[in-house]
Amino acid sequence: MAAAEEGQWVLMATGRSPTNIAVIKYWGKRDEALILPVNDSISVTLDPDHLSATTTVAVSPSFPSDRMWLNGKEISLSGGRFQSCLREIRKRAQDVEDEKKGIRIKKEDWGKLHVHIASYNNFPTAAGLASSAAGLACFVFTLGKLMNVKEDHGELSSIARQGSGSACRSIYGGFVKWCMGKNNDGSDSIAVQLADEAHWNDLVIIIAVVSSKQKETSSTSGMRDSVETSPLLQYRAQTVVPERVLKMEEAIKSRNFESFARIISLVEKWNQSEGTPRVAYTFDAGPNAVLIAPNRKNATILLQKLLYYFPPQDNDLSSYMVGDKSILSDAGLKSIEDVEALPAPAETKMPSQKFKGDVSYFICSRLGAGPKVVTDESLALIDSVTGLPKGV
Ligand code: ADE
Repeated sequence: MAAAEEGQWVLMATGRSPTNIAVIKYWGKRDEALILPVNDSISVTLDPDHLSATTTVAVSPSFPSDRMWLNGKEISLSGGRFQSCLREIRKRAQDVEDEKKGIRIKKEDWGKLHVHIASYNNFPTAAGLASSAAGLACFVFTLGKLMNVKEDHGELSSIARQGSGSACRSIYGGFVKWCMGKNNDGSDSIAVQLADEAHWNDLVIIIAVVSSKQKETSSTSGMRDSVETSPLLQYRAQTVVPERVLKMEEAIKSRNFESFARIISLVEKWNQSEGTPRVAYTFDAGPNAVLIAPNRKNATILLQKLLYYFPPQDNDLSSYMVGDKSILSDAGLKSIEDVEALPAPAETKMPSQKFKGDVSYFICSRLGAGPKVVTDESLALIDSVTGLPKGV
């Protein structure tokens, strides 16, 4: 059997991790290096078929250094965040044996071996859609699989947190709480699953992608500015959020949409005109609106209103709705003519003009599961012979 130092073998693992959208936001760090937040946060994990990162990690004695490619382009791994995750996973690496390939790696050999990592996001990167959450969760999860790390999801979430704060929540599916923790070393700042994706699976999530350009202000610098300059941030963290987190947990447990929507707080008007919330909305650190409907029926009514005000720039309806496209036919919208024939929404105080082209496209999704190993080797992003990303 080939020992770790010998031969030209390449051993790989591939994983896929979802993104998540916070309904109680993480904003502000109490420790920048360990990424420890000033408040608890709660998120929903989205269906990985619609928004996820897929990552292949390869190891070979022939690799002279650690390297990474994101969406086909080589990126630097020298940043502290990637390095923290690599170090923490390597520390926990165990013996690995692949009998079929005749490869054996002893745990003490992992420190001498380098990795190649290729990752691909099936949605826009760094555009306020939490790509780094999916990406760093996938990075940690897949490295952990390759290196046979035995730690549970809580421990993995704490490592992913050191890559990108909200990545810790992408280690689970369904509804997830990131407990801020109290310890200075961050050991209790981990994510826990509040309910899995089946618990409230009639929720429909529609994201209006207003801009898929990269953000001008990163979350890191935005948070730092808030911590340094906003007297309200402490009040939010210490007074507002703890109470909201309890209410949100209760709303999730009892599937109480009214309470869920009120907390999150053309949707305001609809909700007002109906007297009870029909749709909830939230924004992350970016311009894209995330709309949450309690069921398919409300989601189709919402879509009719959205498409009335925000028709596509060109006439291609199919590329205007990505993810779960079947929502279009549920809403009776099979062609651009159907969109043009939509009646003006009846709510009062709505604008009379339309905003053609203001939304780049919509994504329709639902609650989704946590990270999974991709067993189909044809889906690996790295060539098992060259050890380089496919197509490079
Ligand atoms: N940042 C954004 N997307 C990423 C990914 N897929 N992997 C690592 N970092 C990322």
